[in-house]
Amino acid sequence: MQAIRIHEYGGAEALQLEEAPTPEPGAGQVRVRLEAIGVNFIDVYHRTGAYQSELPIIPGREGAGVVQTLGAGVDGVREGDRVAFAMTPGTYAEEVVVDAAMLAPVPDGVSSAQAAAVMLQGMTAHYLVTDTFDLREGQTCLVHAAAGGVGHLLVQMAKMRGARVIGTASTAEKIAFATEAGADEMIQYTEVDFLEETMRLTDGQGVDVVYESVGKDTFMRSMRALRPRGYLVLYGQSSGAVESLDPQLLNRHGSLFLTRPSLGHYIADRQELLARAGDLFDWIAAGRLSVRIDKTYHLADAGEAHRYLEGRKTKGKILLLP
Ligand SMILES: NC(=O)c1ccc[n+]([C@@H]2O[C@H](COP(=O)([O-])OP(=O)(O)OC[C@H]3O[C@@H](n4cnc5c(N)ncnc54)[C@H](OP(=O)(O)O)[C@@H]3O)[C@@H](O)[C@H]2O)c1
Repeated sequence: MQAIRIHEYGGAEALQLEEAPTPEPGAGQVRVRLEAIGVNFIDVYHRTGAYQSELPIIPGREGAGVVQTLGAGVDGVREGDRVAFAMTPGTYAEEVVVDAAMLAPVPDGVSSAQAAAVMLQGMTAHYLVTDTFDLREGQTCLVHAAAGGVGHLLVQMAKMRGARVIGTASTAEKIAFATEAGADEMIQYTEVDFLEETMRLTDGQGVDVVYESVGKDTFMRSMRALRPRGYLVLYGQSSGAVESLDPQLLNRHGSLFLTRPSLGHYIADRQELLARAGDLFDWIAAGRLSVRIDKTYHLADAGEAHRYLEGRKTKGKILLLP
């Protein structure tokens, strides 16, 4: 099969299309022919070596397609079923082996492109507004990079929960897009100090929760944008890793809560995974969740897709097509 393989950590040029052995499913696994592949920021970390594994690797963590072959002991899924999955390594390829426990069935009203676009970023937005912080009507959240892949879904889900949403983004075009997604107020944080603006918008009170995905460049000011006993949810680090933190700061800024969640811990239970994916697919089919596929590249052009993502250009999702 054709696949992108990384032999050495590096820039986008490290992503080269080549012939690779077709993987065989073991017990409890299936082989899926991919129809759409999701591109995520974590793929950049695997390419650069910020997150290390033994090389060579086929990058990618997300996809949707058709089940080709069942390994031993697999039930509940058949050859020909359309499925989607996240947190499964090796998806920048024509075929991938997936643990059957990670599969979500894709209903007829949802395309493979839509399914591949929401499994990782959509389930992330889902757990962030339900379980990391139980966001409610009457509360205010601050969503950084609100026009991004996770961001534009998080804005919509926070609105579904009835919260007020203040978002940040770097360009006027992104501000317009996140506003269309439902953000109540947007701050162009490359032009305006988002901390000052957030405090002004909340009459000096601060927000209940900050969804912090930018990391190094915004983290300390995000902490100060919270009300006392607010939640700082550090779920990403697109600008770089946050340096170590003195816990006393959480006291000084108002008995704050800090968490660093990861999707894997919120879909480890199969029922939880199915419930999150099921909600997303129901909302898409019903027209309640709008998934913007910003760019689609051929698998061979994965490097271009990474340049676009790292260049802060994303407004929604990037997909690769095999
Ligand atoms: N913990 C989890 O479970 C989980 C799951 C999914 C994703 N994540 C994390 O969430 C973050 C967002 O992921 P995503 O795939 O949806 O990406 P994305 O938001 O579509 O892209 C990253 C965005 O971050 C902003 N940004 C600010 N400073 C940046 C910089 N120096 N370089 C690049 N971007 C910068 C940009 O938006 P502006 O131009 O508007 O500033 C950019 O578009 C990533 O850090 C990712 O690792 C975490």
